[in-house]
Amino acid sequence: MTVGLNSRYGLNPAHSEVVEACKIIEPCNALDMGSSNGRNALYMSQLGFNVVAVDNSPSAIDMLQQIVSDEGVANIKAQVYDINNAGLGVDYGFIACTVTLMFLDPARVDAVIADMQARTLPGGYNLIICAMSTEEHPCPANFPFTLRAGQLREAYEGWELIKYNEDLGTMHNGAQLQFATMLARKPA
Ligand SMILES: C[S@@+](CC[C@H](N)C(=O)[O-])C[C@H]1O[C@@H](n2cnc3c(N)ncnc32)[C@H](O)[C@@H]1O
Repeated sequence: MTVGLNSRYGLNPAHSEVVEACKIIEPCNALDMGSSNGRNALYMSQLGFNVVAVDNSPSAIDMLQQIVSDEGVANIKAQVYDINNAGLGVDYGFIACTVTLMFLDPARVDAVIADMQARTLPGGYNLIICAMSTEEHPCPANFPFTLRAGQLREAYEGWELIKYNEDLGTMHNGAQLQFATMLARKPA
């Protein structure tokens, strides 16, 4: 039994939006894009999702692979992959991309989102959380990419937006930063 793996390995709990999304999404083939060392992938696997976890950090993927191997987790495949390639090649029922888009090459983000959408099965879900930079709240952090107001909503036109907000959050250093949070369902 793998309950409590996150704390056993010193990982943070799964992102709260992943926890919320998993309350409504039935276990299926899922992709964790920018998984780091796997806090969300491990959580999803314990709920019965078959998870592919990708990140371009070999050390993060090594750590996740070590946990998977030590614990005999059968339903996580962890791979080094550069998301900028926008070439997923496999279809999923759920693709989660939490606080990762803002680290990508800005010139590739449209292609990455288009590939995520194309690789989502009919009736499947995309979860995206990404920093924004808006007139009212210019992003105080130096991310390569940030979303404009309304940009993510526009990119998902035609999908059912189960959750969408562009709320203001506070960073560890007290700076205020807007985040787009979206759970969207592809038409069945
Ligand atoms: C802030 S962490 C978020 C990790 C995880 N999604 C979470 O919610 O805890 C961003 C992750 O994106 C990964 N990343 C950044 N650029 C990437 C790229 N081009 N391809 C794949 N992963 C990337 C980083 O290595 C890092 O693990």
